[in-house]
Amino acid sequence: MPTTSSLLIRRARVLLPDGEFLVGDVLICDRSIVRVAPEIAESADREIDAIGLTLLPGVIDPQVHFREPGLEHKEDLFTASCACAKGGVTSFLEMPNTRPLTTTQAALDDKLRRAAEKCLVNYGFFIGATAENLPDLLSANPTPGIKVFMGSMHGQLLVDTEEILEPIFAAGDRLIAVHAEDQARINQRRQEFAGISDVAIHSQIQDNQAALSATQLALKLSQKYQRRLHILHLSTGEEAEFLRQEKPSWVTAEVTPQHLLLNTSAYANIGSLAQMNPPLRSTRDNEILWQALLDGVIDFIATDHAPHTLAEKAQTYPNTPSGMPGVETSLPLMLTQAVEGRCTVPQVANWMSAAVAKAYNIPKKGQIAPGFDADLVLVDLDNYRPVLREEMLTKCGWSPFEGWNLTGWPVVTVVGGKVVFEKGKLDPNVRGEALTFDTDM
Ligand code: DOR
Repeated sequence: MPTTSSLLIRRARVLLPDGEFLVGDVLICDRSIVRVAPEIAESADREIDAIGLTLLPGVIDPQVHFREPGLEHKEDLFTASCACAKGGVTSFLEMPNTRPLTTTQAALDDKLRRAAEKCLVNYGFFIGATAENLPDLLSANPTPGIKVFMGSMHGQLLVDTEEILEPIFAAGDRLIAVHAEDQARINQRRQEFAGISDVAIHSQIQDNQAALSATQLALKLSQKYQRRLHILHLSTGEEAEFLRQEKPSWVTAEVTPQHLLLNTSAYANIGSLAQMNPPLRSTRDNEILWQALLDGVIDFIATDHAPHTLAEKAQTYPNTPSGMPGVETSLPLMLTQAVEGRCTVPQVANWMSAAVAKAYNIPKKGQIAPGFDADLVLVDLDNYRPVLREEMLTKCGWSPFEGWNLTGWPVVTVVGGKVVFEKGKLDPNVRGEALTFDTDM
């Protein structure tokens, strides 16, 4: 006999789908939200008194690199999902640059099997495009979409010429998510700046123009075939202004907290920990990206969580790898911006959950309403705490935001109706589910 379990969150400040707040109770039965009301009389197996806390839909992080299989010295699906649970991230979409690459159904199935065994939160995996795997791209299932690295990648996953890109855009109709950097321009500039070991040169080698020209090419192909396109981690003011003029209804774009909140001045403070692709830009780019996000030109937020060990980061540029972790800090970073007046809490919840569920057609996620999945995060908007290296759960053990004093830290995270994180403690026995991607939504 299957047993049912119920959870009642009492006296929370609950964010409703219309963007209003209700101080009240949320009843969860098994995996689903069943009722949201000012006061629910009945009792449940488990009750949480959430007085003073704000209840938000769990974060759906639509771009992460969790390194399993093959690169588990940096991260694995267990450590990454622990970091997610602590950060209020209840679902993630993971990228194909693992070893082996996720370019076949067999590799996708292997990741799904591994995740079912060890992931504390919900999961989905992109299929990676190569010059040769069009049949796999058309049939892969379940997947949020096709990941195309137009630049910043080597080997099979680099799909950097119009000749190779065109058939991928022409065949099928599933979402294509692009890492838009122009590899030919990057190669040329790498030669021009060869011999410079100051990591700050990274932002000049992979410059704004490299990002803009790749975004323009992806958009041109998307327009030609009316193909659903998502532009990953937009980093430049130029791309944002271009999309403000040119973005068709079937195109979405995302930005990372680091491209909003960090810029090239970070190299002086944290050196290669600030190195990522696409690189950090200027304060002017920060400002234009913020405005584009507020205006809806940019649709949502992803972390691009891409951990590398401190030993790897301690090498000399250009041998230092690009990428930084993010799932533990993204929600408090953005909620701190909201508390400090740059945006609102409902906007943050939309950018980090509802808008992602909508863009990727993930059913029953992103809202606190009856019938929706009980993926939730209770946050404390009244207390500030610094980001501390020793508290990081990501295997890489560092954050580019160390020392930043943030509010909005998760107090309780619920995945599928189960409390997975509470007041600093994880329940390592909770398991997420494979996400589904509804084509008829
Ligand atoms: O900085 C980055 N690192 N950008 C990417 O697109 C890939 C990632 C990685 O996997 O390390």
